[in-house]
Amino acid sequence: MKGALWICSLFMTAPLCMSQVDYSTQVQPVFNASCLGCHGNTSGVSLNSYAKVMASVGSQFGTAAVQPGSKESSPLWIKINPNPPIGVRMPPNNPLDQTKIDIIGQWIDEGASESATAVEDLSGQPFRFALIDNYPNPFNPATTIRFSLPDEAFVTFQVCDIRGAVVNLYSGYFQSGEQVLTIRLGDRPSGLYTVRMQALAGNKTFRSRAMKILLLK
Ligand code: HEC
Repeated sequence: MKGALWICSLFMTAPLCMSQVDYSTQVQPVFNASCLGCHGNTSGVSLNSYAKVMASVGSQFGTAAVQPGSKESSPLWIKINPNPPIGVRMPPNNPLDQTKIDIIGQWIDEGASESATAVEDLSGQPFRFALIDNYPNPFNPATTIRFSLPDEAFVTFQVCDIRGAVVNLYSGYFQSGEQVLTIRLGDRPSGLYTVRMQALAGNKTFRSRAMKILLLK
């Protein structure tokens, strides 16, 4: 917590909680509907399963189509946007709508994992990216969140109520290692809340699972 700069704000008009993109229900269906006609089970770019997508190397860019953590360096994302630097926009003559492009971009930026929770694992690092636990729980009015970071990162925490509205937001820079953050909800009614954390390290974005915390007054 040393040296961290805190911004804490309360939203009166509640924006929606951030959620992590799920590959099998949000990304693969887009490929099935719009890409498999030409990128089925073939060599080069083959988009019929998670493993095939991750193994795809296009002949134009000559690199893996998906670069986990960076949509801007991923040929797959570049090619579904207007005016790619090489070749034509995908799918040819039939562009995806912006929502689908954004979902695919978010999935890549979150680490391009197959399951929504695998994003927390960074193998080979002394510390994982993880939201660990909170104590005490239940709590009133404050609870301490424990989390860890493999690298220095700009971290944002969202606290949401059960309707999915953001009630508190904290952000700041943290060193790598295990860290703590105290969350206060004294002005809120008793009930279940969720905490999510998003960390920006270099050009990578990681998002945690939602952790449930219980305020009991
Ligand atoms: C009508 C056939 C067709 C459809 C549908 C199609 N593509 Fe393609 N795709 C091509 C062809 C042909 C190429 C190679 C030539 C080009 O890019 O202009 C290509 C190339 C690519 C590349 C190659 C980049 C590289 O490095 O070589 C990517 C990535 C790609 N497509 C992604 C997609 C995605 C994602 C979709 C669906 C959203 C899609 N394509 C839909 C025909 C198609």
